[in-house]
Amino acid sequence: MKSLRVGLCGVGNVGGVVLKNLISSSSLLELQGGVRFELIQVGARKGKSAVPFEGINVTKDLLDVARNREVDVLVEVIGGTDFAYELVTEAIKEGKHVVTANKALLATHGNELFSLAKENKVEIGFEASVAGGTPVIKALREGLVANKVKWFAGILNGTSNYILTEMESNKSSFNTALKKAQELGLAESDPSLDINGTDAAQKAIILAALAFHVPFDFSFVNFEGIEDIELEDIKYAKELGYSIKHIAHGKLNNSLVSINAFPTLVNNKTLLSQVGKEMNALEIYSESVGSTVYYGPGAGPEPTASAVIADLVDIAKGGWDLDINPNSDNKLEVSDPDTVSRYFRLQVKDETGVIAKISSVFADKKISIEALIQHEAKSKEDLESIPIVIVSGEISQSASDNLKEELENFPEVIPGIKNFRIHSNKE
Ligand code: HSE
Repeated sequence: MKSLRVGLCGVGNVGGVVLKNLISSSSLLELQGGVRFELIQVGARKGKSAVPFEGINVTKDLLDVARNREVDVLVEVIGGTDFAYELVTEAIKEGKHVVTANKALLATHGNELFSLAKENKVEIGFEASVAGGTPVIKALREGLVANKVKWFAGILNGTSNYILTEMESNKSSFNTALKKAQELGLAESDPSLDINGTDAAQKAIILAALAFHVPFDFSFVNFEGIEDIELEDIKYAKELGYSIKHIAHGKLNNSLVSINAFPTLVNNKTLLSQVGKEMNALEIYSESVGSTVYYGPGAGPEPTASAVIADLVDIAKGGWDLDINPNSDNKLEVSDPDTVSRYFRLQVKDETGVIAKISSVFADKKISIEALIQHEAKSKEDLESIPIVIVSGEISQSASDNLKEELENFPEVIPGIKNFRIHSNKE
């Protein structure tokens, strides 16, 4: 049987479960994984009091673990990008494999870490960095290896998805739903990273690096979070046959790769629209196999720990190709050339001729109106600010920005038009 000597750094939400499962599931891991793990050392800043097991070598100085000669693989579950970078770099230089759940670390330092790892002939396992317990990294680098990936679309942030589901199903306020997500241990220690789209965007660049063989360069991801979505938008989306999801999208156009992560209307007939609560899902469209969809828990300590341990098993068995990102002609591009249908919600003063004015802008710009909703005003207040919802034909991001700007020039249109993409399944 293979064996692997593990050093664990971090015993918080995720690290605590990794520790517990390495200890309590050792016979299952021997049976199913064919690997015997030996826990050599645990790095916990608070020391022994943070480790509820006897007989474990605990150090408060995490770099001790990176330098411990008996450790084959260092598990980094401390999060952050500063000390985590120093720790992982040190471990690699010391000839240790690394397993990390840290998407922020890979999104910002991925290129140098993987080239350092290649130089030192060690592996970096990062299944837990995207979609938690759902093995999407394995799908991309192993199961789909015979395919050229054309695009992916994923719900990659469990906290955002939990909030949107609560808003849609229970009409919960944004803040109540966020509080519940935090209580469930889904959110990042700084939940603004979940809500403002950063977390999903970091995961998107990791997927893009694998899918399209481009560098880990987070600065190329265009993204927004879910903060601007109101119950009103969720209600109108439903009326039109859609759910609003936060979708991370990567696409290969010839050899140019665009990556974005935005609140997006998803047709209620698609699998992605059915993904509720903290669940994640990733649809990958590839040239030979077509569309494949991966669904499962994307946040929370147990699912993340499950992915960490799966990487440990893989490393014990020899790991993966050290060339994570072979040279390719594909290039990341800053702007998104893709054209998609879009949802617009305008709040307008209910005056004669306002719809004619609005639709003339669409006509002048040769943008088609696919759907239009205006409900009858029911009160005096409604006359001051009534919603008009329009679904446009397929337009680019820049055409959409220009359209919005021009519409907001009308005195009847209240500034702050809501504008969301509509997901398209086209190749
Ligand atoms: N905070 C993340 C999420 C968890 O909600 O998806 C792991 O990345």
